[in-house]
Amino acid sequence: MAITGVVDGMLASGLERIGHEIDEAFDAYLPVPDDSRARLIEAMRYAAIGGGKRIRPLLLTATADLYGVDREISVRASVAIEAIHAYSLIHDDLPCMDDDELRRGKLTVHKAFDEAIAILAGDSLHALAFEILVDPRVSGDPFVRTELVSTLAKASGHEGMAGGQMMDIVAETSEFDLHTVTRLQQLKTGALLGAAVEMGAILGRVPLDGRAHLRAYARDIGLAFQIADDLLDLKGDEQKAGKALRKDTAQGKQTFVSLLGPERAQDQAQALVDQAIGHLAVHGEEAELLRAIARFIVERDR
Ligand code: IPE
Ligand code: IPE
Ligand code: MG
Ligand code: MG
Ligand code: MG
Repeated sequence: MAITGVVDGMLASGLERIGHEIDEAFDAYLPVPDDSRARLIEAMRYAAIGGGKRIRPLLLTATADLYGVDREISVRASVAIEAIHAYSLIHDDLPCMDDDELRRGKLTVHKAFDEAIAILAGDSLHALAFEILVDPRVSGDPFVRTELVSTLAKASGHEGMAGGQMMDIVAETSEFDLHTVTRLQQLKTGALLGAAVEMGAILGRVPLDGRAHLRAYARDIGLAFQIADDLLDLKGDEQKAGKALRKDTAQGKQTFVSLLGPERAQDQAQALVDQAIGHLAVHGEEAELLRAIARFIVERDR
């Protein structure tokens, strides 16, 4: 009980700390110019500042912490991944995609601004991510910067998030089996979560053959994360989630929940989390935050 309390406290303070750090960094990266681009930057700030769990930044910094990476550096790289995530949400909510009006407890960007601005804000956050990663303040070593860029690029595009979003659209009108839905979720959601862990390891200069357990951890929590999102869509509280729920069935989305039913999907998510934690057995107490993140992923209500 006492140990659980300490770990919960570690997770809560970790989430709060990274939340502030990411907000401050976006604020610094995105001053509103005194010209006709102002609405674009306001929309970027609206999407990026003051919301979201910041789970990807927390994963990146927690992994980097295992290897003693300077906090300022891991936070900077985290802003890049959160910029990609924020862009993916703006586009995911567009009328031509999920057509949503609420995100992180407020109007979606295309509702608060307009569709053209939402598209451009997504595009610009996408570009900002890579601008951040090629800045020598992330690493003086160009090889490290290049590896960060290629990892995040691959996780964002057709071999990652955008590819998964495409499969998600196709799944609305075709029958996918469990294997294909697994692949869809791994790309749509797992790829960016995996990139967060990988980027922490890159900053920590962990050689490729030393990363296998971290990749295995990331793969399992990535899948568990989307199962939890799909369970929340079915059973969650909209107020807490800050977005419209009970849309997946109506939109014909194929998920673990639609294929397995909620009980088996929940069991699957829990099993994945246990397995993820198992992959961290080589680490001691220093990986406690990564273990707590894994548990949070299935226990969360937002
Ligand atoms: C929502 O991601 C979209 C998915 C990939 C399931 P998050 O649940 O991380 O959203 P925020 O950042 O906390 O708002
Ligand atoms: C979106 O998945 C994943 C992204 C790549 C943005 P969902 O469409 O299920 O995410 P929510 O439920 O709108 O947050
Ligand atoms: Mg979607
Ligand atoms: Mg959506
Ligand atoms: Mg969802």
